[in-house]
Amino acid sequence: VNSEQAMRRALGLARLGWGRVHPNPMVGAVVLAGEAPVGEGWHREWGGAHAEPSALAAAGGRARGATMVVTLMPCSHQGKQPPCTEAIIAAGIGEVVAAAADPNPEAEGGADRLRAAGIRVSAGLLECEARRQNAHFFHRHTGSRRPWVALKLATSLDHRIADRSGNSRWISGPDAREFVHRLRAGFAAVGIGGRTALRDDPALTVRGAIVPRIPPARVLFEGAEPLPPTLTALKSGSTAPAIVVTSPARWRSTSTRLAPAGIRVIAAVSLDEALELLRDLGIDSLLIEGGGRLAGALLAAELVDRYYQIQSPLWLGREGRPASGELAGGDLEASRRWDVVERRSLGADTLLVLDRIACSPVW
Ligand SMILES: NC(=O)c1ccc[n+]([C@@H]2O[C@H](COP(=O)([O-])OP(=O)(O)OC[C@H]3O[C@@H](n4cnc5c(N)ncnc54)[C@H](OP(=O)(O)O)[C@@H]3O)[C@@H](O)[C@H]2O)c1
Repeated sequence: VNSEQAMRRALGLARLGWGRVHPNPMVGAVVLAGEAPVGEGWHREWGGAHAEPSALAAAGGRARGATMVVTLMPCSHQGKQPPCTEAIIAAGIGEVVAAAADPNPEAEGGADRLRAAGIRVSAGLLECEARRQNAHFFHRHTGSRRPWVALKLATSLDHRIADRSGNSRWISGPDAREFVHRLRAGFAAVGIGGRTALRDDPALTVRGAIVPRIPPARVLFEGAEPLPPTLTALKSGSTAPAIVVTSPARWRSTSTRLAPAGIRVIAAVSLDEALELLRDLGIDSLLIEGGGRLAGALLAAELVDRYYQIQSPLWLGREGRPASGELAGGDLEASRRWDVVERRSLGADTLLVLDRIACSPVW
């Protein structure tokens, strides 16, 4: 096993923290003695042991003189856990190979601390993979005032999200739907447009293999048609907060209708403002699950950071509902090319994951 293979393994381990460590980053680590992996670990639970001490514990005495391959530069600060740098130094690690630097200013200084103890340190191995894996975490440290926003749509081959009568259940197959439940588990909130809420009445809960540490809040964007408190996603007694975003003109009537049911109503003049208000409520990552109008408006405003397209092998034709609403454009030269993060099968469907802005390595 070389260090790149070990880093791929570490990235795979890190992913096991999805839904459990948020808003902390997912981190994985492998201890390599020569070319032999002798210990591995990952950040399993928010507030729990970090990846590095877990991997060191698994390696025991074999860590002496070995290389620590880790997806994020080890921290040197005392948080809920002791600094990882000290555990690495105490274990006698000879070299640290990190994928990405920690963007959190509080955790900075790890590399310097390790070097001062005589440990060789490098960063940048599979850096983009590591940053994409924790995109919400890196976004938070860019100074942006809105959440990291992902859009997920199940589409036909001709990029339609419902048939001519508005029926979209189900375009995608069971594997894709299971994937969506896993996806939801890692977000602070899941959101939909008002027409989708009224037509499909989805619960927007997580009902898959991963039980999120904090169930995602549900956000509904109200349009001209009022949203009733009887919608499944808004029902009181739900495990996660329900938030309705409406216009300032509708705020009073919507609040009168929904606030008594414990639903939070916020008024915004634009999607930008809505997202900032959601960020103020602690929502640092938001998964939008349609419909097409909301998707198109978010895309037009360049407010979508990642697109999860689940493409199913069927055509819905001209009268099917378009996936990206009234999104204007059409000029090839001016069209942005999105960055491919992942492409794989979900049963008969195909998952395509794209980032609007390509990762540019720092190292
Ligand atoms: N295949 C899939 O993945 C998928 C996912 C979700 C939904 N669907 C299907 O999509 C259909 C519904 O989609 P849709 O396109 O009709 O509507 P939609 O996107 O679900 O709903 C748009 C709603 O959001 C409101 N809204 C509030 N602020 C907005 C803004 N800034 N920009 C745009 N909208 C804003 C709209 O208001 P106004 O009323 O003022 O326009 C409208 O009520 C249904 O047939 C559903 O089954 C498919």
